[in-house]
Formats: sequence, structure tokens, C-alpha cells
Amino acid sequence: MARLPQEKIEEIRQSVDIVDVIGQYLPLTKSGKNYKALCPFHEDSHPSLSISESKQIYMCFVCHNGGNVFTFLQNYLHISWIEAVKLVAELGHVDISQYHLETPKHEVNEQFKDFYKMHEEAGKLYSYYLHTASGNLARDYLKDRGFSEEIIKMFDVGYAPIQNILYTAFQKLGYKEIDMVKSGLVIESNKHYDRFNDRIMFPLHDEYGRIVGFSGRIYKNGQDGAKYMNSPESDIFIKGQVLYNYHRCRDSVKKEGFVYMNEGFMDVIAMTRAGHANTLALMGTALTQGHLRMLRKLTHKVVVCLDGDEAGQNAAYKASQFLSENGFEVKVILLPDGRDPDEIFSSEGKDGLDAALKDELSPIDFLFIYQAGRLDLTNYDDRRKMLDIGVKAIAPITDRVDRAHYVEKLSSLTEFSTAIINEQLADATQLITPTVDYATQIHNRYSEAVELQSKYEVAERNLLFYMLKSKSVADTYEKKLGFMYNDQYRVIASYITDYYLRHPVMVVANLVTTIGYEHQALIDTLMGIANMTNLPDEIDPVVIDDYIKIISENAMKMKHDQLLEQFQHVLDPHQKAAILQEIIELGKKKETQ
Ligand code: UTP
Ligand code: MN
Repeated sequence: MARLPQEKIEEIRQSVDIVDVIGQYLPLTKSGKNYKALCPFHEDSHPSLSISESKQIYMCFVCHNGGNVFTFLQNYLHISWIEAVKLVAELGHVDISQYHLETPKHEVNEQFKDFYKMHEEAGKLYSYYLHTASGNLARDYLKDRGFSEEIIKMFDVGYAPIQNILYTAFQKLGYKEIDMVKSGLVIESNKHYDRFNDRIMFPLHDEYGRIVGFSGRIYKNGQDGAKYMNSPESDIFIKGQVLYNYHRCRDSVKKEGFVYMNEGFMDVIAMTRAGHANTLALMGTALTQGHLRMLRKLTHKVVVCLDGDEAGQNAAYKASQFLSENGFEVKVILLPDGRDPDEIFSSEGKDGLDAALKDELSPIDFLFIYQAGRLDLTNYDDRRKMLDIGVKAIAPITDRVDRAHYVEKLSSLTEFSTAIINEQLADATQLITPTVDYATQIHNRYSEAVELQSKYEVAERNLLFYMLKSKSVADTYEKKLGFMYNDQYRVIASYITDYYLRHPVMVVANLVTTIGYEHQALIDTLMGIANMTNLPDEIDPVVIDDYIKIISENAMKMKHDQLLEQFQHVLDPHQKAAILQEIIELGKKKETQ
């Protein structure tokens, strides 16, 4: 079978639009000629990822990750280059069945393959046992809670019987006991046992939809143990990186434009039954940076809808602050009477739940209600506390109308005059470091980076910029120079000249393909150059000549320094003479330039 040729890869790349592909994973907004999104490759709080439709490339202005559609999928889905190419071929309906695609020897997570397989197997067995006689009571319980067969299937609900079915099955499949224990599904104490016995089982998935753990619920009156028992953390189950239903809610989140965040998975299931499939759950833990990274890939709008009890409100307060601080657009729903979405849905149906979901609060409105509920506002100390909390929350608001609105609110809540509140605010606002607008920040960072580069490096970089634009500039480079001092730039230059040997016109997105995988750093640098905006598009031969002079002057200076050093260290008089001769030649060459 033939290897996949470069031209075919280019055809595959051109079969899709990078904007559509990235748009499947990230919410995009149009900004001028380009599209923008929160960058999934760093902790982004402003949309720094820019996607160019005309160039079919993307780049983050902050973390500098960039490339074409293949690089994006590779980095985003943590897949190999070949897998990314295959995926795009599939999306663009390009037939590649006649080609041999070499898969990399070391698959990502190869070492954890068995753990994923054991979990997949466990999921199947649990589903099976729910529908056997031993699962009768569990099925009755689910029926009582309104689970239809369809819902059971959708959420892969299962049943772990009393017998050690997993241990037996894993033995037959040839897994080592030590791996069974490491997976968390089997426990060792003298003998080996299944961790989960006689519980209704809910599989937990990672962001890619692989089962990485389970949560098992008791279902009989008087049954021993915690209400839910969860898998322990393992190599593949990291609580701070798991959000229940994350992998299933994507399409619905895309459609609705936001995601609901619940406390438990029973809530997610109730929300889904009520027609709100754009829901995921924290499963009783606190939000982590890992969760934020996942959320950023999903949406920038989160509606926090945790349980209405005190614990739920505390968690909602923390989550909403954390999300807002990290650039998410946040709303909070305070559910009535300390209830959770599942309880409301069970007693009042879709209409009752929908009514409760209507009351979206801004994080600051929620904060006021939440704090006012905890403090005793008839007492001076607590009023004073409320004043401080409120002022701190209002201080960052820049919109004058919003500000006035919340000052009024705080005043009526605390009974301090708006004049006092405004005075306090004036002090508090001064304490907030003036936030330089984002574009300026980026600009400063960029120009700092430029200043750090020597004039030689700037010349090299600018020359590359024009080499990308014109074959004749690349030819001039080859003829007159063929060398750059910066290692990365030199390699990029050779990729460019090589590219022009086979293509009359440069397509940067294809150049990225030729650089291929394992060279992300190089691709990022290339993207930085391709996206430079501080140079005129017109090619001025005088300027090009200037760059070439500067670069070769540098090359000669480097060569001169090198020779001089050799000269000082070499003892052999013949060699010394030869080096001296070279230095003189170099000096002459410099004069003739
Ligand atoms: P809740 O106690 O609110 O459960 O815990 P729930 O969603 O209302 O469930 P039902 O309706 O009683 O069946 C919320 C989440 O906290 C975790 C679970 O992930 C649960 O979904 N939790 C709760 C545990 O891990 N262990 C427990 O014992 C209880
Ligand atoms: Mn509940």
C-alpha cells in the first residue's frame, strides 16, 4: 500500500474549513476578518485565539500555540498527527483507504490502555446485570424515580450484583491482579473483591467520553454504607478533571449557548428529562483549574444551578466567584426551599423546574442575597460587614449605570447612605490596579519581546515574513545568504525554500503540514511570523537588501569571533597562520559588501 503523499495531505486539509472544525469544539465570535475564541491551550480569560478563514491557520496571541487544522486537532484532542489527518479526511469525506497510514509506536496513554478497557468491560457487565433477576429491585427503584429504559440507556446506568463479577471476568480476560487493583475496580484484602457490591452504578467519563470510574448508589431501605460510593482516584480517574455528562452535553451546549452546572448526577438526569441536555455536574466537589480548562472548551457562559440548601449556596458562591474571576460569563440560580433540580422535577415536573430556572441572578445579585441571608442586618456589625463585602464587589464594575444600580441596592440592604457607599467605593476603586486594556497589554508584551531580540534577529524574522509572501524573496535569500543565525529561523527558512521548489505560491497552512508533527515549537514560531502586523504588505527590494546585509554582517561577525577564539587557542603555528589568513579574507569580503 502506498504511503500518504504530501499532496494528498494538502487535499485533505483543503477539504474542510478550519473555522468549522474549530467551531465544533470552541464557541467562536467573528472579529473583523477573523474569528476569536478563548484559547484552550492556556488559562485564558480573554479570547486570545485568533482563527483566520482566509489563511486557514490559527494562533493564540498569548501562549503562541498555533498552526493549521491538523495541529489544532492534535493539540486539542491529544491525538497523533496521523490521527488528526485521518479525522480531517473523515470530516472532509476524502477517501484514504488506499493509503497505508503509519500509526505512531507510542500511542498516548498506551500504559493506561488496560485501565480504560477494564472500565469499558465493567460498564458492559453492570448494564447487563441490571437486566438480570438480581437487578430486579434496583430496576424497581429506578422506575420509582422515573427512569425510563431510554434514560437508563442514555446514561448507561447499571447494577453491580453481590458476586465479584468483575474480578472473575478480569481473570478470564488475563488481566494482572495488580492492574485490577490499580484500576480501582477491585480491592485486595487477603482475597480479591469487587469494590462495588449491590449498588446501582453510574459510569463516570473523562472529557473524551472514556469511562474512568463509577459511582454506585444504595437503593434498598436500610442498606449499609454511604449513599454514593465512588471509584478512588487513579491514573485515569482524576476528580478535578471530571465533570459528569461533559462529553454528552456538547451538542446541546452549542445549541443553547451555555451550560447548566448542577451538584449531582441525579440532577443532570432530571434536567435532561426536562429537556435541558446542556447540563453537567460537579459531583459534590469544588471547581478546579482542570474543570475550568474543560469548560473553556465547551462554552464561556455557565449557569450555576446547585442545590438550594446551605451547602449548595456556599458552593454556588465559590463557583460563581471562581468562574467570574476567570473570565466566564456567569449566572446563578437560587433554587427555592433548599431543593435540588431533581426534587423539583419529581414533584412539579418540567413546568415547575422551568419556572425555577427562569430566575437567573448575576453573581453580584446572588452575592447580595447570599450574604444578606447569612448576616443579621438588624445588627450594626453585620451591616458594616455587608457594606464592606458589597463595596468590594461593586468596585470593579466600570459601567456607570450598573454601578449606580448596585450602590442603590447596597444602600437599601444595609441602610447606609449612597453617599457613604460612594465614598467607600472611591477608596476601594483606587486600590484596584488600573487595568490596561487588553489590546495594549498584548501590544506591550509583543513589543517587549521584539525589543529583546537583536537587530539581527529582527532582520531575520522580517525577512522570513517576506519570504512567506514571495518566492522571489526566498530565491534572493538562497542566492545571497542561505543562512540565518537563529536556529529556529534557519530551519523555517529551509522549509520555506524547500516548499517553493514544489509549489509556485506559498500557502502557510500547507507549509505547516510539511513541517509536520513533533515540531510544534517551530510551527508556533512560524505562526508568530505569519501573523505579524507591524510590517507593510508591499515588498520593497531596498528593505529586503537591507535585511540581507544586516544578517550577513552578523554572520560574518559571528564567524570572525569564532576564528579569533580559535586563533587564541590553537598552538600549532601553521594552523595559526591559516586562521589568520581566513580572518583577513573575511575582512576583505566585508569591505566589498
Ligand atoms: P446529593 O446528596 O445532593 O445527591 O449529592 P443527589 O444528587 O441529591 O442524589 P439523590 O437524589 O439523593 O440520589 C450530590 C453529589 O455528591 C456526590 C455525588 O456525586 C452526588 O451526585 N456524593 C453525594 C457522593 O459522592 N457521596 C455521597 O455519599 C453523597
Ligand atoms: Mn437529590
